[in-house]
Amino acid sequence: MAEIKERKIPQHVAIIMDGNGRWAKKRGLPRTMGHSQGAKVVEQILEDADHMGIKYLTVYAFSTENWSRPKAEVIALMNLLRAYMKTSLPKCAKNNVRIRVIGDRSKLDQDLQDSIQDLEEKTKTNTGIGFQIAINYGSRDEIRRAVTRLAKEAKDGNLNPDDITEETISDALDTAGIPDPDLLIRTAGEERLSNFLMWQLSYAEMYFTDTAWPDFTKEDLEKAVDAYNHRERRYGGLIQ
Ligand code: FPP
Repeated sequence: MAEIKERKIPQHVAIIMDGNGRWAKKRGLPRTMGHSQGAKVVEQILEDADHMGIKYLTVYAFSTENWSRPKAEVIALMNLLRAYMKTSLPKCAKNNVRIRVIGDRSKLDQDLQDSIQDLEEKTKTNTGIGFQIAINYGSRDEIRRAVTRLAKEAKDGNLNPDDITEETISDALDTAGIPDPDLLIRTAGEERLSNFLMWQLSYAEMYFTDTAWPDFTKEDLEKAVDAYNHRERRYGGLIQ
């Protein structure tokens, strides 16, 4: 294996933040305490990622499947997201962070939709790290929504089906304009994609750690980046 002379920083890191519930249970706390600790960790990791030179960070905050959790847990998660949207503008301004929410926001409470839009609007010209938060997000649902949109364009005569390229599809996804992730991190010992960014992660390196999300630190992020540095990305080709 070639020795690493200089650490290569992935441009885009995606994270499945797992293990909040187990972290809380182990401490005799309600599951929702795991989520609130998890939310604090997201904010710290965003800053750490930025300092490391990562340009885009995408986190899986609430999946299309998470609605089936107990009502009180769904409400607690929505309240954490609500609080983030309402209070993080000064920090985003200070750190030059650009926010984008991916997922089907039309199913969220109207006040949450409004504060998401407000935060996106007020941070859209920031030129630092891009922070994507997946809320009511499922990869299959995202692809279904994109296909519906393209089919309508074709039906209206604005798109020739023979002209549909991979780029056309990428541009119809919620992540349009954002480069695909180079590295996916999943915490808490699970090794599944769980309907997260399935199109965009086609060539990403996968890194799994047993650390639960509320315990995840800058050192864990650095370990993941080091592991990424030891992989040879071939995109289906041969080693040069
Ligand atoms: C998975 O752990 C985690 C979630 C379903 C929620 C993740 C959300 C946050 C960390 C809050 C995000 C906040 C912001 C501001 C972006 P789990 O509950 O499935 O854990 P378990 O597998 O141990 O039960």
